[in-house]
Amino acid sequence: MFHTIRPMLPDDLAAVLRVQAACYPPPMQEAPDVVSMRLRAAPATCVVGCDGDGVCGYLFAYPSRLGRVTALDAPFAPAPDADTLYLHDLAVDPRALGRGLARSLVAHLLGPGQRPALAHAALVAVQDSARFWGGFGFAAHATDDPGLAGYPPGAVYMARLNC
Ligand SMILES: CC(C)(COP(=O)(O)OP(=O)(O)OC[C@H]1O[C@@H](n2cnc3c(N)ncnc32)[C@H](O)[C@@H]1OP(=O)(O)O)[C@@H](O)C(=O)NCCC(=O)NCCS
Repeated sequence: MFHTIRPMLPDDLAAVLRVQAACYPPPMQEAPDVVSMRLRAAPATCVVGCDGDGVCGYLFAYPSRLGRVTALDAPFAPAPDADTLYLHDLAVDPRALGRGLARSLVAHLLGPGQRPALAHAALVAVQDSARFWGGFGFAAHATDDPGLAGYPPGAVYMARLNC
């Protein structure tokens, strides 16, 4: 199916929150003001995927440090000495699943020549998505960040080398 990927804009937030609501159980829903602050903190690394009916997927990311976890519902704190693109939240609306949109969103930020050019990428895999992320070269990685404890059981911190 045809879809486009573009930078996320403030006007997209209502649709982004609808996708979040469709993709996560209540304990994992993040507050609208936190989501909005994240876009303001890292506009260069937050993107949406759109189909003919509008926004149907998104990816929030920001420059961080390897080993650091963003707690659920916490604002982004971009690192001045970043070495890692932290992918905080990737979600695709049920209407658009299985059509390569998640792959396109990830490739948009991690594909060759993309900026910022950081040595690593990392994330917390939730909802049985570790195998999905493994397909992009991510593997379980040690972290002692206390933010991981706030995630549901089964969440896995994963990282990869970007090159
Ligand atoms: C995980 C998610 C983003 C995948 O979206 P999608 O648009 O259906 O994924 P794509 O169509 O781009 O699939 C890309 C590849 O991953 C595979 N894949 C998709 N979901 C998968 C999963 N849960 N486990 C393993 N592989 C998966 C696809 O088969 C495809 O493989 P292929 O290219 O070899 O055919 C989507 O299921 C989702 O939004 N889930 C709810 C939110 C969530 O839990 N996000 C993870 C946050 S860490």
